[in-house]
Amino acid sequence: MARNSSSTSPGIHPRPRSDISGLRSVPDAIFAHPQLARIYDSLDPDRRDLEAYVAVAAEFGARSVLDIGCGTGTFACLLADRGLSVTGVDPAMASLEVARAKPEADAVRWLHGDATSLPPMQADLATMTGNVAQVFVTDEDWAATLQGTCAALRPGGRLVFETRDPAKQAWLGWTRELTRTCTEIPGVGVVEKWEELTGVSDQLVTFRSVFVFETDGSVLTSESTLRFRERDELASSLTAAGYHVDDVRDAPDRPGLEFVFIARRPATAGNPGT
Ligand SMILES: C[S@@+](CC[C@H](N)C(=O)[O-])C[C@H]1O[C@@H](n2cnc3c(N)ncnc32)[C@H](O)[C@@H]1O
Repeated sequence: MARNSSSTSPGIHPRPRSDISGLRSVPDAIFAHPQLARIYDSLDPDRRDLEAYVAVAAEFGARSVLDIGCGTGTFACLLADRGLSVTGVDPAMASLEVARAKPEADAVRWLHGDATSLPPMQADLATMTGNVAQVFVTDEDWAATLQGTCAALRPGGRLVFETRDPAKQAWLGWTRELTRTCTEIPGVGVVEKWEELTGVSDQLVTFRSVFVFETDGSVLTSESTLRFRERDELASSLTAAGYHVDDVRDAPDRPGLEFVFIARRPATAGNPGT
C-alpha cells in the first residue's frame, strides 16, 4: 500500500479547482497531465497493494464502495468486476479519462471532483488507496475530506485508508539511484523515470519526479508535497470528523511501514459505539 504522487512541472501548471470543489489542493501533474496520466499504470503495474482493500470490502460485506482519489480507476474497476456498485471520484480529469477507457469502466460511476463535491449517497465503504490520504497537506483540506466522506457513508459504513508511518522516513529512499526505472510502454516507447527528494519540513515532504521519453528526448518534471501525519493525529482528526476508529492495522504488503485505518460512521449520531 505504499505509493507516490507527484505534481507540477515546467509547462504543466496546476489548474484552478474552483469549478469542482472548495478544496485548495490541486491534482498533481502526474495525474492531471494527459501524457503522464496515460503512462501511470504502465509505470506502476504491481497493484498487489489493492488486495488488502479487496479483502476489507469482503470482510465488511460491502456492496457499495466510494473510492476517493480513484486516479486511473484500477481499484474501482477491480471491484466493479466483482459485482460491487462503485463510485470513483478524482479531481484529475486526465486520470478519469484513462479510467473511463478501461474494459470494466461502464460499470463504475465516475465523478470529477472530490469528497466535498459528492452527490447524496449511502456507501457501505469508502476507500483511499495508494496513499491518497497524504495528498491533503492542510488540516482544513483533510478535515473537509473526512467530513465529506462521512456524509457519503451510510450509518455504520466504514472508511479505510492507508498512510505512511512518518517514523519510517520513506522519503530517504526517494533518490534517483534507488527509484530509477526504464519501462517500455506500447505506443509510447521507453520511459525513464526517477524521483528525487527536494525538501523535508516538519511533516511535509517534497520531491520531484522526472520522466524522460526516449523516443523524442522530451522531459517532464513534476513536484509534489505529501504530508506524513502521526497515528494519534490521524485518530483525532477522524474522531473530530464524526468517525469511530475501529482499528489501525498493518499493511500486509508493506509490514511495519504504514498505518491502515478502519474508521466507522456511527450508526447513531453521537453514539460512536453503535
Ligand atoms: C497516488 S494517486 C492514487 C490513485 C489511486 N487511488 C490508486 O491507488 O492508484 C493519488 C490520487 O489522489 C488524487 N487527488 C489529489 N487531490 C485530491 C483531492 N483533493 N481529493 C481527492 N483525490 C485527490 C490524485 O488526482 C490522484 O489520482
